[in-house]
Amino acid sequence: MPKPRVFLTRELPPGVMAALRDQCELTANVEPRVLTKDELLAGATGVDGLLCLLTDTIDAEVLDVQPRLRVVSNYAVGFNNVDVAAATARGIPVTNTPGVLTETTADFAWALMMALARKVVAGDRLTREGRFTQWEPMSLLGTDVFGKTLGLIGAGRIGQAMARRARGFSMRVLYTDVAEPPVAIVRELQMERVSLEDLLRQSDFVSVHAPLNADTHHLVGAPQFGLMRPGAFLINTARGPLVDEAALVAALRDRRIAGAGLDVYEHEPRLSPGLVELDNVVLAPHAASASLETRTKMGLLAVDNLMAVLEGRRAPFTVNPEVYG
Ligand code: GLV
Ligand code: GLV
Repeated sequence: MPKPRVFLTRELPPGVMAALRDQCELTANVEPRVLTKDELLAGATGVDGLLCLLTDTIDAEVLDVQPRLRVVSNYAVGFNNVDVAAATARGIPVTNTPGVLTETTADFAWALMMALARKVVAGDRLTREGRFTQWEPMSLLGTDVFGKTLGLIGAGRIGQAMARRARGFSMRVLYTDVAEPPVAIVRELQMERVSLEDLLRQSDFVSVHAPLNADTHHLVGAPQFGLMRPGAFLINTARGPLVDEAALVAALRDRRIAGAGLDVYEHEPRLSPGLVELDNVVLAPHAASASLETRTKMGLLAVDNLMAVLEGRRAPFTVNPEVYG
């Protein structure tokens, strides 16, 4: 049997490239940049499967290349870059990579929270610039993390991994979610379900772990910042458009809230005007899942998903399983 033809939109870790070359007739973009729409269309034309990134917009036009794609394997847990309804209408499975990046992403959200609260980045800058001339009793005074209240907007896998970390910091954990996590986990992690409003009013740290969809766009905007404590911090490692970034900049500038740790942006990779001028933010370049181990696991899972469909099986993780009929 000839190997299936696959187009990969960006180079992935070596173990993933080896697995792909072994199992597919692979065409890959090896240039370190996001493909243009025309390049994406050209790459997807004539292949059986597409392995793409969250920076690739997979719309009806891409899904309609001929002969039609048999699978779209997204190298991410989030899949808001794919028009899933259009894929479903065409019977094309769309797959994602949940689970393997849960702990790595929670580690990074935790790192942003710690960095913000304890002014790690500001301290690094000061020290590098030769401004550490003596022990200072009153400089870089941050805020404690242990013993505080953590509010999780989204209590799925990553939210739960945050709650588990919070146990070690003696934190109170509040959460809000459209779904209910398993009772045993809620009990084990001593998480308290509250309304979004109560979560915002009571939390010292608000961390976002929800998927981006029509219902969650601008879930946190001016009204929500208005409910937060003046000493509270927002952490977003999920998707930028969950937060109204212009309203966030205003809230930070006016000190309506104490600070923000961001890994994702509303108009990624563009930053909203005013964001970089603020001294109460820690900014990261959408890197929460960026450990070599995890990026390799994500890639191998994306390959498993892809190959399963190409070999006529159900993929381990399909976001539109109704296509299997
Ligand atoms: C990263 O943002 C992902 O969705 O995997
Ligand atoms: C993503 O993996 C989540 O469910 O939080």
